[in-house]
Amino acid sequence: MANNSNLGAAKAAKNDEFYTQYADIQKEVNAYLEYNPDTFRDKTVLLPCDDPEWSNFTRFFAQNFERLGLKRLISTSYAVESKKYKDYEPTLFETESPLFDVDKTRIKGKIFELTRDTNGNGRIDIDDLEWHYLEGDGDFRSPEVCELRDEADIIVTNPPFSLFREFIAWIMDGKKQFLILGNMNAIHYKEVFPLIQSNQIWSGIGFNLSMVYKAAYKNILEANQKFVRSKGYDPDDNYIKVPGVCWYTNLDHGRRHEPLKLMSMRDNLKYSKHKEIRENGYPKYANYDAIDVCYTDSIPDDYEGVMGVPDSFLGKYCPEQFEIIGMGSGEFCKGLGAIPYNMILSGVALQKMNDLRPNYGAVFLIDSNGMPKLPYSRLIIRKKQQQ
Ligand SMILES: C[S@@+](CC[C@H](N)C(=O)[O-])C[C@H]1O[C@@H](n2cnc3c(N)ncnc32)[C@H](O)[C@@H]1O
Repeated sequence: MANNSNLGAAKAAKNDEFYTQYADIQKEVNAYLEYNPDTFRDKTVLLPCDDPEWSNFTRFFAQNFERLGLKRLISTSYAVESKKYKDYEPTLFETESPLFDVDKTRIKGKIFELTRDTNGNGRIDIDDLEWHYLEGDGDFRSPEVCELRDEADIIVTNPPFSLFREFIAWIMDGKKQFLILGNMNAIHYKEVFPLIQSNQIWSGIGFNLSMVYKAAYKNILEANQKFVRSKGYDPDDNYIKVPGVCWYTNLDHGRRHEPLKLMSMRDNLKYSKHKEIRENGYPKYANYDAIDVCYTDSIPDDYEGVMGVPDSFLGKYCPEQFEIIGMGSGEFCKGLGAIPYNMILSGVALQKMNDLRPNYGAVFLIDSNGMPKLPYSRLIIRKKQQQ
């Protein structure tokens, strides 16, 4: 019988093979075009984890090459033998091509390029893609794909989930613009949060989405199947729901310059739609000089001090309105200067806190019984100070 770690590895391997839907890419890209119709004009776009046979990123950018005003589209794919999950047959597109090589097909990556109307039908589209095998396996970290990164202006893809940290570091090393999909948890990564805090990267329009991906397996859970069907996809055809997905980018878009419309603290205490706010107000943390705000829409717009807000704030964050000071939990909490909880709590209360959060610090509240209460994950923010 397979042991748990084998099953876990098999699942992780399959989770790297999720394919993004065309409509989701189109919706996100359109938001950048609304803000700046020239976002992609005269740009070289690189899709570094994308084979046109499966990737809707390649299909979308190839089909919209002229509308976006692209200069060059490059899409590279990863060799099947290098993938963790190896269920693959070469496509007719490849086998019927004079370039097909039976020895190379499983071990080499491929590059697909679009720059011109090759078939003379008067337009540049997916049928004009030219391809050849790469020297290596198409790993985005390989020297030849790094070279393509350096030639590109904008990198777009849904990278393998298991390599998200490395992928974002790879983009930042190349100092490139990008638009990529990732999990909501990524905001807590030590490679990601400092970039968010310093406004080098931000959330795209789509934030904390439940997406439908085409996967390498079926999800037979009824809730999954219902959701997938409600979006117009067939769960029997391996479409699955994945919650907590975000677009991450450093391309500008309109939403991030729209300040949140908020009420004063007084009005919130009286009229908030959230009972917790009306009844409990904005308690102060026991170990850090800030108030706890449990809903993004309840941030008081007249409060000048520091506030802890839910991660969902990031989907509404306008850097002209607020600044992000830090994160209220994990390794980042140390940088905040929050008082370690063993200096505040003792006895049963300290034991409870140790049970709640044994390894690292967090901002916390104390309830009416003197017991520590940990809010969910918090970003620490304050109103943008006028320069
Ligand atoms: C989450 S899938 C997304 C595919 C496609 N970008 C899409 O959204 O439809 C990630 C893809 O990256 C490939 N991949 C895994 N490791 C890679 C690496 N080191 N370099 C390039 N691609 C890799 C996987 O095999 C998989 O096909």
